[in-house]
Amino acid sequence: MTEKIDSATGASQKELAELRQENTENTPSPWPGPKGMIPVTSGQADDANVHNRAYLDNILVEMRVIDSIEPDMTTEIFGRKYSSPLTLAAVSHLNKVLDDKSRKPMQEKAAAAKNLNVLNWIGMETNEEYKEIVAAGGDTVRIIKPFADHNKILEEIKVAEQKNAVAVGIDIDHVPGVNGRYDIVDGIQLGAITQDDLRTYAASTDLPFIAKGVLSVRDALKARNAGCQAIVVSHHHGRIPFGVPPLMVLPQIIKALVGSNMTIFVDGSLMSGFDAYKALAMGADAVLIGRGILPELLDDGAAGVEDKIRVMNAQLSEMMMYTGVKNMNSFDSSVLHINN
Ligand SMILES: Cc1cc2nc3c(=O)[nH]c(=O)nc-3n(C[C@H](O)[C@H](O)[C@H](O)COP(=O)(O)O)c2cc1C
Repeated sequence: MTEKIDSATGASQKELAELRQENTENTPSPWPGPKGMIPVTSGQADDANVHNRAYLDNILVEMRVIDSIEPDMTTEIFGRKYSSPLTLAAVSHLNKVLDDKSRKPMQEKAAAAKNLNVLNWIGMETNEEYKEIVAAGGDTVRIIKPFADHNKILEEIKVAEQKNAVAVGIDIDHVPGVNGRYDIVDGIQLGAITQDDLRTYAASTDLPFIAKGVLSVRDALKARNAGCQAIVVSHHHGRIPFGVPPLMVLPQIIKALVGSNMTIFVDGSLMSGFDAYKALAMGADAVLIGRGILPELLDDGAAGVEDKIRVMNAQLSEMMMYTGVKNMNSFDSSVLHINN
């Protein structure tokens, strides 16, 4: 087989893969805890998070202050009311990262969500850990890995139902691993998710079913046709090299799903209430905040998360007031100007 050569650098694809690994390994981690437990991104051109940041920072906002009032940030998600459209993203495995083993960041995050009255997401944890985490908090969405063993997925859906999850879903963007094969996480084999699989899972439960990790109109339509009631427009903090910023594809996806009644979440480097505002102004129903609360969670537990979300809520409210948005139903994307 002829080795493919990258036209920009002249490097072979093998060299590029090694370089990618090396860049990631040499990038200092801002997170405590064992290497590999919390993702460190390379910061190079292939790092989709870099493009998220650049895209977000180039969205500018015009003012519409005359007649503007303090906004009501009450947000309805799956028929329930929350204090804010900011939700706490699935950031799994954190109970293993701190030296202080008496602390349980996953439970602390769940407690913060409860105290703030915002929605909490829980990702890859065993069913036993999941049960302990939900016991500490309020409303949760359970996101299940695309396990090769489909019975395991169905089993986790059932446990989520028993534990009163508000919705359940799969992070469909976690099928490939960096070795170009189906990923293996914690020794557990992941596998392909077909549209028929999604249809089976969505039909297996009365809970709203979510496809997390949609980054194209094509997958959004497949998720809709499979009976998913919601999607998260996301690339899972840059799983795909050179991934398009979620906000760049969000407007096309929203347009494609008009009339479907689906809930559209988005995430990806939303570090402030200003970032969140841009996503909501573009038409997202709610946003997920992952790494934006991670240092606060690991350093200061529930109180740290609560303080950070309060600051973000204040920033969001400030932007809503500057642009005449009085509640969650009155965002208007025409205030946004993309500065190319
Ligand atoms: C440490 C860590 C663990 C994560 N675990 C999961 C997971 O188990 N399931 C999942 O769907 N997403 C998981 N994610 C992805 C986040 O839910 C989110 O999609 C992603 O981090 C993008 O948001 P952000 O840019 O605000 O961090 C994880 C992210 C981090 C940082």
